Amino acid sequence: MIAESHIDPNKLIMPIFVDETAKKPVPVQSMPGIYRQTVESLPDYLGQLVESGVKSILLFGIPSEKDEKGTSAYQEDGIVQESIRIARKESKLTVIADLCMCEYTSHGHCGILNGEDVDNDSTLESYGMIAQSYAKSGVHMVAPSGMMDGQVGFIRESLDRSGFHNIPIMAYSAKYASAMYGPFRNAADSTPSFGDRRTYQMDPRNSREAMVEIAHDLNEGADIIMVKPALPYLDIISKARESFDAPIAAYSVSGEYTMIKMAVDQGFLAPSAIDESINSIFRAGADMVITYFAEYLSKNL
Ligand code: PBG
Ligand code: ZN
Repeated sequence: MIAESHIDPNKLIMPIFVDETAKKPVPVQSMPGIYRQTVESLPDYLGQLVESGVKSILLFGIPSEKDEKGTSAYQEDGIVQESIRIARKESKLTVIADLCMCEYTSHGHCGILNGEDVDNDSTLESYGMIAQSYAKSGVHMVAPSGMMDGQVGFIRESLDRSGFHNIPIMAYSAKYASAMYGPFRNAADSTPSFGDRRTYQMDPRNSREAMVEIAHDLNEGADIIMVKPALPYLDIISKARESFDAPIAAYSVSGEYTMIKMAVDQGFLAPSAIDESINSIFRAGADMVITYFAEYLSKNL
């Protein structure tokens, strides 16, 4: 009766990896309990999620072909496009798709290279094409995660121009250059082959900069803003909550999942560590949380 915050399955989003190269679901080494699904296994897996009480998913794809320019990211029969169609046909889940290029480029960076640097503006053109192809496949919402300047405005334009003005944008607004993404890069096969992402992701030492990034995204038309990672950045979530009235999503990333999951599996932490940590993200002010524990929590609440 006096609890000020709680975990509601309606507010949880389950990330899903779909692998075009796999014949059957493959366990993700760095994330115990998480599998890369295949196009064939996806319908059953979605059924299992729905059964658990999951309402929303965030799709990531692992394509069979990668090239310099990440062209497999916007093909009509691409892995995410196909997965969107399956999810829309087979379920009533809210289908969100991560929009980036690091899984599709041969070099693993989130955009198109010019020499050793990611070229912000030519990357936007590709993001626009990805957004349109996701929308054509029936996605409910796109979630651009590449942290290119101006990406939200550019994608909004592209969607509007192609008649998809009703597709909202969940913007990865304050995304830090974090070591916490390590397990994900193994899951999604998106480790940069050289350098790092510090020229486009945020400096973990900064807080005010996050508010500037969020303000930009809202000005460009973001419908939902995001802070990522979550647990080491609860102060940023809290500050964003005080500063903005837009819905805030927090992404409790792969490293957060693996740390807690491994400690619980080993018996070093009680399973309530899972509820406690995800609840703390809501307490900090998040409206919704993307977490690899979404299935577990929805089932066990
Ligand atoms: C792609 C992307 C990443 C994550 C979500 N989208 C990885 C990265 O930026 O390297 C991380 C998610 C996680 O760690 O769970 N840009
Ligand atoms: Zn990326």
